[in-house]
Amino acid sequence: MVKNTEVKLSAVAGDVKKSPSDALVVGVGQGTDGPVLLENPLTAKAAEALADSLAALGVTGAADQAHRLPGLPEAGAPVLVLAGVGKVTPGTALGEEALRRAAGSAIRQLAGLGTVTLALPAPDAAAVAAIAEGAAMGAYAYTEHRSSKDGLKEPVRNVRILTDLAASKGLLQPALDRAALIGKAVNATRTLVNQPPSHLYPETFAEAAKDLAKGLPVKVTVWDEKRLEKDGFGGILGVGKGSTRQPRLVKVEYAPAKATAKVALVGKGITFDTGGISLKPHLGMGEMKSDMAGAAVVLNTVLALAEMGLPVKATAWLCIAENMPSGAAQRPADVLTIFGGKTVEVLNTDAEGRLVMADGIVAASEEHPDVIIDVATLTGAQLIALGNRTAGVMGSESVTGALKAAADRAGELVWPMPLPEELRPSLDSQVADIANIGERHGGMMTAAVFLKEFVGKGKNGEQIPWAHIDIAGPSFNNGSPYGYNHKQGTGCTVRTLVAYVEDVLAAK
Ligand code: BES
Ligand code: MN
Ligand code: ZN
Repeated sequence: MVKNTEVKLSAVAGDVKKSPSDALVVGVGQGTDGPVLLENPLTAKAAEALADSLAALGVTGAADQAHRLPGLPEAGAPVLVLAGVGKVTPGTALGEEALRRAAGSAIRQLAGLGTVTLALPAPDAAAVAAIAEGAAMGAYAYTEHRSSKDGLKEPVRNVRILTDLAASKGLLQPALDRAALIGKAVNATRTLVNQPPSHLYPETFAEAAKDLAKGLPVKVTVWDEKRLEKDGFGGILGVGKGSTRQPRLVKVEYAPAKATAKVALVGKGITFDTGGISLKPHLGMGEMKSDMAGAAVVLNTVLALAEMGLPVKATAWLCIAENMPSGAAQRPADVLTIFGGKTVEVLNTDAEGRLVMADGIVAASEEHPDVIIDVATLTGAQLIALGNRTAGVMGSESVTGALKAAADRAGELVWPMPLPEELRPSLDSQVADIANIGERHGGMMTAAVFLKEFVGKGKNGEQIPWAHIDIAGPSFNNGSPYGYNHKQGTGCTVRTLVAYVEDVLAAK
């Protein structure tokens, strides 16, 4: 069901005429004195003439600009594309994320062409990797529900990266392979998020997880409603009660014999969030098809780790339900028993994410992992605090710090936020162990304080190191496309989590 055609990434060296393509992309930066034509394979004479006419052509070098010109004889392509890379400083190499965005933006905007050569500055393997990753994420489209493909542009299928390093294949192949894999994981996450809720609901999400895992060394276990009942997953069941589509818990385990670390990931998988009886306003409610982004992220992260063959035991817990209002739905003031026995008074049925996540976090804790990281489109307050593009990360400082460092390396925006202890009493309930809503101000942190209550103890008797990532804003782009991001699902946080695991393993 989740099918994405993959882009082919390769590195080429030397004369671009020897490997002709449909377009040659050259970078332009925003210098202090106007546009700057970056390093390129054109003849000195052609490059000079082009550099002189940039301003007159309206080329500023701003990110996301893509000007198409007729190809020059030496370009090996009928079209020359001037791609903006944003601000540049003389003598300073472009950062990896700038390269990722420039490559992604160009490839995204060149949809419809078959083969594109990227001639962006690629002095080392890390730069080639960043360009490749950006290209893989730029080459994406979600067209599953179009009745006709007429007028739709196919994503670019072949990307060639021009680099002097191309001759030393041994150096670049691992970087290109990793980029392809990351691109595949991000795009698969986007496709799950983009699926309409008519088609992606708990049962079909569980099936999609099994489908995506096919051929990989992972074990997928699905709890259906009967098994959820038997095992006492009251959070997932409570939230799912209002829907005719029954909830699911999905466990995806990658456990290689050589593992040196044990990581548990928990994802919020609300396939549609109407708010339940505490019904949301209708304006923009359709965006709530993306309320399963956290589960899609943790699923595709574990699959990517398995495909990379990393020596880590990684388990994803997908907490999946549809939050609907109906005669069978849970009511405000209902009390639920979370897996493991803690009780929650549901004062607002729209604060459902934390209920399903509580079940998942307790279940993950029982296996005593080294660390638990949960990912959820948990609060509108995340958008108020950090905006559309920056995820909030809260929890144990050892984990939030490492996640911030991993995100920086991966080129994703996350920001650490505190867990103020004075928020905890606001969650006190008159009848149960805790209520599902508390202080509204700082609501992103109130939700995290709630989740912390469900993080279990490790074998040493201390609370398991844990972090919560709220991706309510960055997981879904309701604005214009930018960089390697398209409209709707962004697949954010997969890259951060893969980088985090790589960092943990490197420190062993
Ligand atoms: N899924 C929403 C959070 C959300 C909002 C995600 C906007 C993406 C964009 C979540 O279930 C929710 O409704 N949270 C409530 C919590 C409140 C009732 C304490 C919210 O943020 O309003
Ligand atoms: Mn909600
Ligand atoms: Zn929700």
